[in-house]
Amino acid sequence: MQYGYFDDANREYVITNPQTPWPWINYLGTEDFFSLISNTAGGYSFYKDAKFRRITRYRYNNVPMDSGGKYFYINEDGTVWSPGWKPCKTPLDSYECRHGMNYTKIKGSKNGLEAEVLYFVPLKTKAEVQLLTLRNTSSTVKTFKVFSFVEWCLWNAAADMENFQRNFSTGEVEVQGSVVYHKTEYKERRDHYAYYSVNAPIAGFETDRETFFGLYNGFDEPQTVLEGQTRNSVAHGWSPVASHCLELELQAGESKSFVFVLGYVENPQDQKWESKNIINKKPALEVIDKFDTIEKVIDSFNELKAYWDKLLSVYTVDSGNEKLDRMVNIWNQYQCMITFCFSRSASFFESGIGRGMGFRDSNQDLIGFVHQIPERARERIIDIASTQFQDGGCYHQYQPLTKKGNNEIGQGFNDDPLWLIIGTTSYIKESGDFSILEEPVPFDNEPGTEKSLFHHLTVSFDHVIHHLGPHGLPLIGRADWNDCLNLNCFSNDPNESFQTTENKTAGSKAESLMIAGQFVLYGREYAELCLRLGKKEEAERALKEVSKMTEAVIKHGWDGEWFLRAYDFDGNKIGSNENEEGKIFIESNGWCAMAGIGLEAGMVGKAMDAVNEKLDSEHGIVLNNPAFTKYYIEYGEISSYPPGYKENAGIFCHNNPWIMIGETIQGRGDRAWEYYRKISPAYTEAHSELHKVEPYVYAQMIAGKDAFRPGEAKNSWLTGTAAWNYYAITQYILGIKPDYDGLIVNPCIPADWKGFTVNRKFRGANYEIRISNPDGRMSGVRKLTLDGILLEGNHIPCQPNGDHLVLVEL
Ligand code: BGC
Ligand code: NOJ
Repeated sequence: MQYGYFDDANREYVITNPQTPWPWINYLGTEDFFSLISNTAGGYSFYKDAKFRRITRYRYNNVPMDSGGKYFYINEDGTVWSPGWKPCKTPLDSYECRHGMNYTKIKGSKNGLEAEVLYFVPLKTKAEVQLLTLRNTSSTVKTFKVFSFVEWCLWNAAADMENFQRNFSTGEVEVQGSVVYHKTEYKERRDHYAYYSVNAPIAGFETDRETFFGLYNGFDEPQTVLEGQTRNSVAHGWSPVASHCLELELQAGESKSFVFVLGYVENPQDQKWESKNIINKKPALEVIDKFDTIEKVIDSFNELKAYWDKLLSVYTVDSGNEKLDRMVNIWNQYQCMITFCFSRSASFFESGIGRGMGFRDSNQDLIGFVHQIPERARERIIDIASTQFQDGGCYHQYQPLTKKGNNEIGQGFNDDPLWLIIGTTSYIKESGDFSILEEPVPFDNEPGTEKSLFHHLTVSFDHVIHHLGPHGLPLIGRADWNDCLNLNCFSNDPNESFQTTENKTAGSKAESLMIAGQFVLYGREYAELCLRLGKKEEAERALKEVSKMTEAVIKHGWDGEWFLRAYDFDGNKIGSNENEEGKIFIESNGWCAMAGIGLEAGMVGKAMDAVNEKLDSEHGIVLNNPAFTKYYIEYGEISSYPPGYKENAGIFCHNNPWIMIGETIQGRGDRAWEYYRKISPAYTEAHSELHKVEPYVYAQMIAGKDAFRPGEAKNSWLTGTAAWNYYAITQYILGIKPDYDGLIVNPCIPADWKGFTVNRKFRGANYEIRISNPDGRMSGVRKLTLDGILLEGNHIPCQPNGDHLVLVEL
């Protein structure tokens, strides 16, 4: 069952039934000011950091789900309704929500009155603009009242949810004209306030929540709206809100539009005040001015659209398969931008207070994002690397506002450093900008400790070889990519977090085959980079370590039919046929396959076959099998999840592409495609009622075959799944890969594909790459011409600016 449809021409997902199986959200803003908005207008806004600069309040896990947002209420002769259906839930005559590229349009109608709200954050603006249009589609004149509503958050979203003994006394607002200003704590240590305006005279306002709702009412029955009468309340403490009231009359067929601006201002210390305790409103009024007419709003909306036209024009495919095209050309790239912006901080599954920017996460996000805006990727790489330690180890995350690393979600994940290598080389391959390697980058943000970014890569590489276990394989530390494989944790205290509690380290033999594969792959990547830089000796040193690791994997990491997952604290095998549960895991098999370890000896082929036989299922490839059915203190959080969920045999969509790529390494395009298709949102749309979360973006996890409800997905939006699937489909299946000095063309597709065309903008030139597959092959470029000239091999050297035609035959 579907709840809407894709409108590819407009790059929108159109929701036609507001009662989706879960709130289906969108993101506004890609720079500093951000909003999350659901299909019924739930959600919130923040500036840069969802924890420290939360602008509007949101209650996670509320009843009913997704209550609270950017609401409009209409009262026409006592009939009270909202264009997004919620919160009033008054049955509508029509409803439509269009989630587009960084904007959302919600339209509802009732009794011949139509209300449409366009929500977006204009480029280079610290504000969300809401364009409300009301149309009288009836044949009689209509008089009615419209009320806006937002609830302010007292800035620190964590304290906002906890410290009520203080919070209920701090709230402060000012109201001037049609603008409500939220200035809690501005008097003391803050230099920022927020505001909510409308470009028309208002009939009244509320700023005190209980006055607006009535103490015993919910979002669905605000007293002010029901009575059609404001009390013009001014909040002193308790819970400040902002609501405008407009009194309107529309002739038959007439429409009127209003612009609401929800904005954020930071004032310099010496310009904070207009007069004693009266805030300096100038910067807010300037922004309000910029959007005070419909024309200005439409212009800036068109700028946003043009911005996305450009972003999405760098890589486009025409495959003849509309589902594939819409993922590659629109939604997967869009999700990559969103994961780039938010890492794992704020979604409807990440509360914005638990996690910030992940070291591992944000590096991985880059592989799907870097082609969109390489300059922003560059800045991100420097930010991430600045949180690293001198020995190559890393904080697991940093806070976006401060950019400083912290241990709040743990430390000592031994895969972390290696991700910096792929983040950096992906950037250089896209941009050709080797100068980033010379950039001085501090350790732990400590001024005076700067070393070149290249040095950071060296210590990243060395961190692995300085932390080897008894088999010469990498020690896992707190965990590797799988945050829940906690082999040194031994937690029997439910009051401690698996992620942060102190680990045993002395005497640990816990080694990871996932990191081993990763080291071989990214160690080679590092060595190649060294060669490009003329650092021959360093390249040789690296390659020697890589081949030692390869041997260690072949000798100690092979279980006969597949790669082992790990050795535990005591040196026992994990992910072996000898184990009763968790006999085989996806990660080590994916990584050792991607690294091509034992390829000639048939190990990769065997491992991929074992994955296919034991881990593949109707909805995707599960993480491990058999699922753990009891708690193993020596394995940690992984065995805490019920079978089939999350890291315990869930379909972790993030690591399915590792297997897709592993299959392409041996030319099996049919299998790679089959895996891609299974978890692709465009395909899961058909069973949305089961899948539950948005059909236009990937979710971190789909419940696996051992779960109660296989196929049900969770944790949509903020997941490495976005970047990895984009990377797998564009670079390994469609096979157009940026390289240091050109593009590599190496598709790996199902034999029955006749061909496809990719348009790729790369370092100033446009390449139209037409692949044809006359003999029904899966891989192998037989012939490649560039602008009519036959080239040897499958490498297109960088060309001068302008258009170039590349014809490829498999
Ligand atoms: C989750 C992991 C996540 C980790 C973050 C765990 O509870 O299962 O997916 O990466 O928390 O700290
Ligand atoms: C989600 C985390 O964001 C990511 O860093 C981790 O690798 C996966 N979970 C697997 O545990």
